[in-house]
Amino acid sequence: MNEPRKLFVKSFGCQMNVYDSRRMADTLAPQGYVETSAADDADLVILNTCDIREKAAEKVYSELGRVRRLKETAAAEGRRVVIAVAGCVAQAEGAEIIRRAPAVDLVFGPQSYHRLPQLLARAEREGKAVDTEFPLDDKFDHLAAPSSATIRARGVSAFVTVQEGCDKFCTFCVVPYTRGSEVSRPVRKILAEIERLAQAGVREVTLIGQNVNAYHGEGSNGRPRSLAQLLEEVSTIDDIDRLRYTTSHPRDMDDDLIAAHRDLPKLMPQLHLPVQSGSDRILAAMNRGHTREDYIDICARLRGARPDLALTSDFIVGFPGESEEDFAATLELVRKIGFSGAFSFKYSARPGTPGAEMSDQIDEDIKSERLQRLQAEIDRQREAFNHRCLSRTFDVLFEKPGRHGGQLVGRSPYLQPVQVSAPASLLGAVAAVTITEVASNSLFGALAQAPAREPDLLGAGA
Ligand code: 5AD
Ligand code: SF4
Repeated sequence: MNEPRKLFVKSFGCQMNVYDSRRMADTLAPQGYVETSAADDADLVILNTCDIREKAAEKVYSELGRVRRLKETAAAEGRRVVIAVAGCVAQAEGAEIIRRAPAVDLVFGPQSYHRLPQLLARAEREGKAVDTEFPLDDKFDHLAAPSSATIRARGVSAFVTVQEGCDKFCTFCVVPYTRGSEVSRPVRKILAEIERLAQAGVREVTLIGQNVNAYHGEGSNGRPRSLAQLLEEVSTIDDIDRLRYTTSHPRDMDDDLIAAHRDLPKLMPQLHLPVQSGSDRILAAMNRGHTREDYIDICARLRGARPDLALTSDFIVGFPGESEEDFAATLELVRKIGFSGAFSFKYSARPGTPGAEMSDQIDEDIKSERLQRLQAEIDRQREAFNHRCLSRTFDVLFEKPGRHGGQLVGRSPYLQPVQVSAPASLLGAVAAVTITEVASNSLFGALAQAPAREPDLLGAGA
């Protein structure tokens, strides 16, 4: 076929899905598919779904309603549009998706996307195809690498999956069921991927995994390497200026990894460390495997290693049995730690998880009211953190043109977006910026005369 076929991929949920979507596009490129950002002229629409919360799955079904109409309009014009559902909702629901949304041609889980060309051929042959197996082969071995031009088009900051799956079985979470047990990629393959990215102009890499700090991939000596050791190896790649990793579990925050925050200058001073609740009773019911004091101690040691570390977290309110007292303990923990931002969610019972079976489910009204109070506190902290950046000078990695001509948008070491008047020639470069104005969610700055100096204690409690 000469005419390129157009592919539209929509990602829901976490960075792992964003990464997976890109690798799906890479895998389909040799088959003649080019990506389009307009769903209505696509020949193949893939929804890469997330199942973490109830609303996420519902969003997919309403999106499928829209895509079905596109398919019908195209069919009226004599054009065939293939609809595929990938990711965690696909894994959890399987053929049920085709029953609820018959316009869907193909359903495949997160472990199958390297078989996409074959699955598409099967859907064409047999009408429909479903693949939610957990194969034993390493899908990363079968995925086509992106071209340099594709890497460049995706920007100077890239995600790289180093670990997948989870063995923790928090009682609220579907991930261990949809993504399977923990698997780490070997160091050698990760380094090769990052070197390719660096050669094409990538300057910042975020190592990602559902439980990234449980990383234990094979090293060059055949023995498992920790995330700290992996970070150390990645930081020897010259053209990579910045490193990050996400998402971590407090239980796997070992001494080596804490020390890496002190010893590796390329490791950025921002860490996402979900705690979910500040109440020991609820942490135990959630099967988190750590206490409130453990979390406080880890944060103190991290800040001992890197005093300007900005911490972000995830919280769930209204987990079954959560009393007003438990919730007050969460608010109190937030005040004690001082975050630069956080995500907070109302508990949603996920079918098949132990939490869904617990008897003492909390009323939606109470959940909404607690969420509001928690978010107000987190917003206050984020604004306070941003305001402490005023007049400071730090390095910014310029990622894309700004809203207005002559402006670029970059990221601070703490992951805040920063708008700066700067020449386009600085795109993809790191430069020192002095923060001149702070709005609630973004910072404005000017290129600094002097190089960035070590920041002061930005991370200290709000
Ligand atoms: N209900 C609400 N929030 C959830 N999360 C995971 N499962 C649920 C659930 N059942 C949140 C957690 C996790 C984040 C990715 O999503 O806070 O860290
Ligand atoms: Fe889900 Fe808990 Fe695993 Fe995180 S650690 S993916 S919250 S089960």
